[in-house]
Amino acid sequence: MRRADFDADYAAIRSVRFDVFVDEQHVPASIEMDDRDPFCIHVLAFDDAAAVGTGRIDLEASGKIGRLAVLSSMRGQGVGIALMEFLHAIAKDNALDSVWCNAQGVAVPFYDRLGYRVTGDPFDEADIEHVRMERKL
Ligand SMILES: CC(C)(COP(=O)(O)OP(=O)(O)OC[C@H]1O[C@@H](n2cnc3c(N)ncnc32)[C@H](O)[C@@H]1OP(=O)(O)O)[C@@H](O)C(=O)NCCC(=O)NCCS
Repeated sequence: MRRADFDADYAAIRSVRFDVFVDEQHVPASIEMDDRDPFCIHVLAFDDAAAVGTGRIDLEASGKIGRLAVLSSMRGQGVGIALMEFLHAIAKDNALDSVWCNAQGVAVPFYDRLGYRVTGDPFDEADIEHVRMERKL
């Protein structure tokens, strides 16, 4: 696992996100890579040389964590938790005292296990139900 360089690692980040969000969850390809990407800190997880997971944190949006994705074949092995812990460490290094995300409804138990608590009402984004969750660092 390592911090990514958005330009140099663009293909790897895009590949994981397209597999998970576009192909699996049917998020429109046109909105998958967005205008916050160049401003976020990105992380990548690998299995040998292959990228299998990614996520990002937007420090300018009060530590918003997003685009967390692990290839379906690699789930349930702790990759998602490891990515989140790495993102929390980056937030702490940047003097944040909390982080937040818009969690997909199905992923609420995952974030709950990581210490996140729901702080808003559910809403739809890309036709998927989300809810705002926050965690103190
Ligand atoms: C959510 C996601 C990143 C988790 O990655 P992962 O590598 O499978 O997670 P981990 O193996 O670290 O799982 C950690 C724990 O969360 C649980 N968990 C993971 N995804 C879950 C889900 N969707 N619902 C309930 N529990 C979940 C696991 O069972 C595990 O608990 P356990 O150790 O007690 O068994 C992955 O499922 C994924 O990419 N999903 C599709 C994209 C997505 O929904 N992203 C989140 C957008 S908000």
